[in-house]
Amino acid sequence: GEPAPYSPTGRHTGNPPQSRAQDGPYLTTAQGARLYDTDHSLKAGPRGPVLLQDHHLREKIMHFDHERIPERVVHARGAGAHGVFQAYGTAEGVTKAAFLRKGTETPVFVRFSTVLGSRGSADTVRDTRGFATKFYTEEGVFDLVGNNIPVFFIQDAIKFPDVIHAGKPHPDREIPQAQSAHDTFWDFVSLHTEAQHHTMWNMSDRGIPRSYRTMEGFGVHTFRLVNAEGATTLVKFHWKPKLGVHSQLWEEAQITGGVDPDFHRRDLADAIEAGAHPQWELGIQTFPDTPEQTFEGIDLLDPTKIVPEELAPVRPIGLLTLNRNPSNFFAETEQVAFHVGHLVPGIDVTDDPLLAGRLFSYLDTQITRLAGPNFHQIPINRPHAPVNDMLRDGFHQQAVHSGVAPYKPNSLDGGCPFFAGADTAAFIETPVELPASRKVREAPASFDDHFSQARLFWLSMSPVEREHIITAYTFELGKVYDNAIKERQLRALAHIDAELCARVAEGLGLPAPEPTGPLADVRPSPALSQVGQEWPAD
Ligand code: HEM
Repeated sequence: GEPAPYSPTGRHTGNPPQSRAQDGPYLTTAQGARLYDTDHSLKAGPRGPVLLQDHHLREKIMHFDHERIPERVVHARGAGAHGVFQAYGTAEGVTKAAFLRKGTETPVFVRFSTVLGSRGSADTVRDTRGFATKFYTEEGVFDLVGNNIPVFFIQDAIKFPDVIHAGKPHPDREIPQAQSAHDTFWDFVSLHTEAQHHTMWNMSDRGIPRSYRTMEGFGVHTFRLVNAEGATTLVKFHWKPKLGVHSQLWEEAQITGGVDPDFHRRDLADAIEAGAHPQWELGIQTFPDTPEQTFEGIDLLDPTKIVPEELAPVRPIGLLTLNRNPSNFFAETEQVAFHVGHLVPGIDVTDDPLLAGRLFSYLDTQITRLAGPNFHQIPINRPHAPVNDMLRDGFHQQAVHSGVAPYKPNSLDGGCPFFAGADTAAFIETPVELPASRKVREAPASFDDHFSQARLFWLSMSPVEREHIITAYTFELGKVYDNAIKERQLRALAHIDAELCARVAEGLGLPAPEPTGPLADVRPSPALSQVGQEWPAD
């Protein structure tokens, strides 16, 4: 049936009421003292000065002054919805995760977002979209923090601040707001050519979704599943929208962005309210967990690479239905805190170096954004599983802990039925063999192939989609002031496809560089010679 209504009193979690913000028939101060007037300051006479002793005025203004919290450093603009996930049971052989057992229904909260714009920016800009799902499972919270594009700009999280600084508005004029039409973005992606594959997806129709309801979602990284026998499988997660994948044309996006900057947000809320509940199937591509962690020559730890579905089909494992709008945007959509480290038994991480950085970043940023370390107690973030931790105190602590000995084992607080130990219900890290190695700041040689999959993507496009891609590159690069940056990006395009490069060069009024010319000022890539050979041309 319908999930219990969300309530700031914590009813949906079974926890005792913790917030008494809107009880009783009378208007009161935050301390519960009844008020008789909230429209006039206390003054020395009707035309006299306002008195400092007006405690109601000061409380009201003080609280208003602190209503805003920092927006997310990325993915600031978003819209959320509640729903339910129903498992088909088809993943039971590869994972012991309880929420993936046949017929299990799990409440979820999903937040869609753009990446680069600020909280008030328009919805229909050309950008990557976030697709983050919080599963409130009986074994704790599992977050699948994905995007609508299956690859990422960089291979190592140490470059994340750099790519975001390059993509955000220029620091001097703070423009452009949320588009890739500027010098620093193209400077970055033409110098850090591992970004070329993701950039091509952005320049394609995928960069302007028609609706959140018609977007695919991807976990991007390879994860590791563990089944009841302890056997492991490498996996990539996919969300497939029941409505199919649809985009806007650039011209449509300009109109919707201007006429209704809330286009995607409104579309999602209206559809849910009208009972047209959007649905996605969750699917997995599975790969044997070999020591090399490659599949058909593709490095599974490289987040700039996909595994084509022709090589590894996506197997559906469950159905997501969004069926309820948030009742309070701030309490739910703004305060929700996703984290790739929110895992449940049966789902583990791999050594993808981008994922490793994310495992640090989300909790760290939320300490600032949500003012302290207790944001897991905010209603939208509370697990639906019982919590019994040894975390104490801190800003905005809501729990009143009992006992004197928050350490285990202890002999004071009623003995030690303390942790699950080898119990299969516990989250146990997979004992992965690590190769004997030395400490290095290096990437594996396979990470040097920056172009073959961008070419693969280009070759998979229909003629009309190719025209859109050419127009997008031409428009966005046309906004760049520095010709050297345009020329460098054209050289990168020459390594992807000669026709693409020639058409964009023509549009920019610049000469097309030789398709096979060396990328003199770009990181050398040993795999360049394979471009066009690894994948069949169309
Ligand atoms: C936020 C996805 C890479 C840091 C988000 C959100 C999504 C997302 C969907 C929005 C969450 C929400 O709706 O609240 C991804 C994907 C990545 C990626 C798919 C690559 C595959 C990274 C990396 C870092 C990072 C490498 C840092 C090293 C952040 C931060 C936030 C964020 C700081 C804001 C979180 C908050 O304030 O709650 N990311 N991200 N992301 N991401 Fe990522």
